[in-house]
Amino acid sequence: MRTFVLGFIAAFVILPIGALGYFRLGLAEVRSDAKPPGWESQLMGSAVRASVRRSAAGIQSPLPTNSDETLVEGGTLYFNGCAGCHGEPGKPEEDLSHYPRVPQFAQVATQYSEPEMYWIIKHGVRMTGMSAYGPFYSDKEVWALARFLRRINSLPSGVLERIQAKKASGSS
Ligand code: HEC
Repeated sequence: MRTFVLGFIAAFVILPIGALGYFRLGLAEVRSDAKPPGWESQLMGSAVRASVRRSAAGIQSPLPTNSDETLVEGGTLYFNGCAGCHGEPGKPEEDLSHYPRVPQFAQVATQYSEPEMYWIIKHGVRMTGMSAYGPFYSDKEVWALARFLRRINSLPSGVLERIQAKKASGSS
């Protein structure tokens, strides 16, 4: 009984007070130019993945499959608004200022599905460099961005050239 009571006190009193103290005393680092401890990255990373999966469950793209137009539209938006952080195919950014690091899509395939990426682009991920783009793009544009990112490393021939030509001519 005694051990049980002590265990109870440890679990429900000391641990929560300790955790609260850790955060309230400023012991948790918030700077983004230092690597967070492994437990924090793991905990936050898995919390973000689980939350995105749950929030995006059941959402479906309204866009036609296999449309080069969609890829060109999404790619043009990507080059104009996202590549500065996420890198261009063949030209990864060297990111030293963000933790969590900005995923370089042309190098590392994302683990998210198209609807999950749509959700992230629209709503952002709190306390990371990834802001919510919902207020700035139409729904169709957000879907086009997600489609382009899904295919960024396996684009049909000619699509990248069309995006680059549009970029060079300054139209979006
Ligand atoms: C200021 C830099 C920055 C810009 C600009 C930016 N992002 Fe991000 N993005 C991030 C960071 C940092 C993360 C990682 C968030 C995390 O760790 O949960 C991220 C994550 C993502 C993810 C999840 C991918 C994965 O595998 O974790 C998607 C999808 C994404 N961004 C799409 C976009 C799109 C599309 C745009 C342009 C409309 C964009 N981002 C603009 C910084 C940026």
